Amino acid sequence: MNRRNWLISAAALGGVGGALWWANKSAQVTMPGMSMSGGGMSGMGMTGGVAKSTERIRELPLGAPLPELARLANTSNQPASFEAVLEAGVANREFLPGLVTQVLAYNGAFPGAMIEVAEGDRIKVTFKNRVPGQTSTVHWHGLDIPADQDGNPMDPVSSGGERVYEFTIPADSAGSYWYHPHPHVLAAEQLYRGLAAPFIVHGKNDPLPAELGDTVLFISSISLNADGTIAENTEADMFNGREGDHVLVNGAKQPVLVVPPGSSRRFRLYNATNGRFLRLSLEGHDMTLVGTDGGLMAAPVKGLKEILLAPAERAEIVVDFRAEAGRVALTGMPYDHGWMGGGKPAAETLTLMTFELSGTAVSPITLPATLREIAAFGEPAARKRLEFSENMGMANGAMTMGFLIDGKSFDMNRIDLRSRAGQVELWEIYNGADMDHPMHVHGTQFQIVEREKDGKTSAEPILAWKDTVNVTAKETVRIKIRHSMAGLRMYHCHILEHENSGMMGLLDVA
Ligand code: C2O
Ligand code: CU
Ligand code: CU
Repeated sequence: MNRRNWLISAAALGGVGGALWWANKSAQVTMPGMSMSGGGMSGMGMTGGVAKSTERIRELPLGAPLPELARLANTSNQPASFEAVLEAGVANREFLPGLVTQVLAYNGAFPGAMIEVAEGDRIKVTFKNRVPGQTSTVHWHGLDIPADQDGNPMDPVSSGGERVYEFTIPADSAGSYWYHPHPHVLAAEQLYRGLAAPFIVHGKNDPLPAELGDTVLFISSISLNADGTIAENTEADMFNGREGDHVLVNGAKQPVLVVPPGSSRRFRLYNATNGRFLRLSLEGHDMTLVGTDGGLMAAPVKGLKEILLAPAERAEIVVDFRAEAGRVALTGMPYDHGWMGGGKPAAETLTLMTFELSGTAVSPITLPATLREIAAFGEPAARKRLEFSENMGMANGAMTMGFLIDGKSFDMNRIDLRSRAGQVELWEIYNGADMDHPMHVHGTQFQIVEREKDGKTSAEPILAWKDTVNVTAKETVRIKIRHSMAGLRMYHCHILEHENSGMMGLLDVA
């Protein structure tokens, strides 16, 4: 398929060129549990028809300076108010010099334009969907905002259409959130084509010293065909989650950030890949964890050799770099999250980026002993149990996979769970399947209570705000969760190929 011609053809059809985007897909993955209700499927098939085996680009240029993330400018002149126009559409990028790749971009930026706001700010974003032939939405991952402003798949914005998202940033919510599309069965594809960006909420009083800096490391991945097009999902991607051939930090492969030897620095780490687990370590250095999905923790946790970020998870860390000049790699170590079918990647340690320690050595910065107050949720008023399962089968001689919660595949016309606003609930999430599934719940931050596996129960050692928690195979994770507002909320596995294949449910908060 010639992507350069595709744009022209799409235009000639008056902007309804979606069929062309999909026209050359080969056989679709058959998902027995796949719900076909909810519309939007006609002529499209589901996201991630199996790609034909094409030559891939295996090497990309390395070692450029860490790119600054593009920012979405605030056009409001009112205090405590953020207004902007956000446009999702096609943009050109050269991952390999001279070879144009059409990506999807927010306001032309890849990764998308970062939004920075403060607690209490009033947000008004006019979203323009210029993704050819596909509906889209903007989901504000991790934020406690009204359900009808949260980009649910039930509220699609048609291609060529627009809508306004309006909400207020809650108090005490400073943290590293992000935004990405959530259209029915199209979220995975739009994300891996480039639609995702950080959404930073700054606190009124940030307890971390400003001298630490504040650097966002937005980790995504990309797979490119030899002709420069973004590779469609393979069967292995559909089953196991798309890992992506090349891991990118702020859109670049193995970029370099220069820091003074001996310095202490603050980083916000994002796993914005569809389905790659990032088991992060920093060559020769410990990391201090200061924050999780929903912002800073009560106190820093020092001496970490590794941090696992499942898809969609974030971590805020502080690193005290050594006093000698040289290079330090941030690496992704092998992690076994379970694998179905062929195409299992080799277990290798990847360099994700490099810190170059050079210049005049400086002294480390001491962190405050406490960062924030987090009150533990009390007795739950209700309990729920959720169970992940996989449903393997055969169709036309090919292996098929269904991804289910409580034995059901997502149906946007069906309410799966009910809660009451303001009530604390205890959710027991059991993964009866063979792969890890990172569970995400919209519109709130929860607290992990304990984990149980192989008959052993361990209390969660740190009190922290989370919106995504990895549940390994045969593990039970118990969380306490509370939604502050009524409305329909999604909960799903954040391996987006699994989410697209049905591993999602609807919670009605009354
Ligand atoms: Cu990152 Cu349903 O979301
Ligand atoms: Cu979300
Ligand atoms: Cu999953």
